[in-house]
Amino acid sequence: MKTIFNIPKNLTPDSYLLVKKSRPLFGEISVGGAKNMVTKVMAAFLASDGGECLIRNAPFIGEVANILANYEQLGVKYSFFPDRTLKVNFKNLKDFNLGDENTIGSRISILMAGPILKHFGQAVIKTPGGCKIGKRKIDFHLQGLKNFGVEIKEDGKFLRMKVKKGGLKGIKFKLPFPSVGATENMIITAACAKGETVISNCAMEPEIMGLIKILQRAGVSIIVNSDREITINSSENLNFKDVTIIPDRVEILSWASAALATKGDIFVKNAYQDHIVTPLGILEKMGAGIEINHDGIRFYYKGELKPTNVRTEIYPGFATDFGQPFAMVLSQIKGKSTMHETIFDNRLGYLETLNSVVKKNKFVLKNNCPVNDPCRFKNKGYRHLAEITGPVEFGKGEVEIQDLRAGFALIIAGLLSDGLKIKYLDLLFRGYENPISKLKSLGADVELVNG
Ligand code: EPU
Repeated sequence: MKTIFNIPKNLTPDSYLLVKKSRPLFGEISVGGAKNMVTKVMAAFLASDGGECLIRNAPFIGEVANILANYEQLGVKYSFFPDRTLKVNFKNLKDFNLGDENTIGSRISILMAGPILKHFGQAVIKTPGGCKIGKRKIDFHLQGLKNFGVEIKEDGKFLRMKVKKGGLKGIKFKLPFPSVGATENMIITAACAKGETVISNCAMEPEIMGLIKILQRAGVSIIVNSDREITINSSENLNFKDVTIIPDRVEILSWASAALATKGDIFVKNAYQDHIVTPLGILEKMGAGIEINHDGIRFYYKGELKPTNVRTEIYPGFATDFGQPFAMVLSQIKGKSTMHETIFDNRLGYLETLNSVVKKNKFVLKNNCPVNDPCRFKNKGYRHLAEITGPVEFGKGEVEIQDLRAGFALIIAGLLSDGLKIKYLDLLFRGYENPISKLKSLGADVELVNG
């Protein structure tokens, strides 16, 4: 069977996207399946005790390709069809090692620890590194896994894990912060363990609920209690069925930002309202045009928008991932807005990158918090508050993508600029499906130049 990916081939470090001032974006595009659900489902599937599973609406993105490379290393057979159905067969996992030099290191691999340990009693995983948005520690993951009965040796590059005698055993564990990845890791590992697990202070993102649903359907008993507490009792045999990936809420909001920043009008086909009620409310209050239909959501500019102060938060608050494209909307609004990032300690670095091409009204980054805000980054010295005085004018120059969502923000800036060369595109394709053809279909002046 064929593996299908619409990711441009032969990208080099010299490849760039040339993005120039464009007319307001106008038209219709379709949103892909959620990166942050499909990847977790693919990790959880490894806990399967055999048989075939189907993932529908799996997006053609780099992060899925990375996990398929992990699958190949573990001996998992799959077929990825043009209708975005991914068929996976878990008959014979043949390796516990996700750690050799050729393995693609992704933050998802640590979520595969529980399933690999369930099958082999040991696992070797590349240590996920920090990245440009913050330190991205894995201490909650490691503490939780140790509590389940896993011995872990770290040598800087790899995590070498071994299950203690008696196997993985259910735990009671309070997460120090409602981390998305650590919540998912604890749920997946609990599904591989004997006995009951109770995790408190959990994250509750829609993608986590999606993960819970497929585990429930595979026979795991899961109760989402009040106060962010989740109770998990596994079953002897895990047989996953088919699952449909929810639309990517961050992609929906990325296109909403592109529409509003360029004063355009975009219909995002298949967009769900359910997972984005908070940002929708904020956009509506600012004066954005929003039309919610049964088959998607239209975002359009209907007149001057109001400056706004936004604080990124855990779900159901305003998502940190949306903060980056949204800052480009704020950049075009007359007056002063602020973006207060409270999830990652260094997520605003892309605004500094953009300052190198700003002709008027540079972004101002500060390390203080708004008065009386109970921010966990208070007095830590992190530059996590941006003052944005619009309209910002973008000139021309070269900028580098630092992380996925910042990549989309740079593209929006390019659409308002005298011409931006945007580099390190693999980070963009890691999470957006066909961004260039979607942009072109909306009237954007973008061109991929392969260096
Ligand atoms: N944290 C720790 N220790 C840990 C785990 C997390 O200190 O062991 C801290 C982090 O450093 C951060 C905070 O907790 O300050 C929240 O991190 P979280 O674990 O929630 O983030 P994540 O699971 O690594 C996922 C998404 C991110 C998204 C965040 C927040 C995936 C693959 N990534 O990251 O998405 O921003 O949750 O919602 O699901 C993206 O899609 O590009 C992306 C970065």
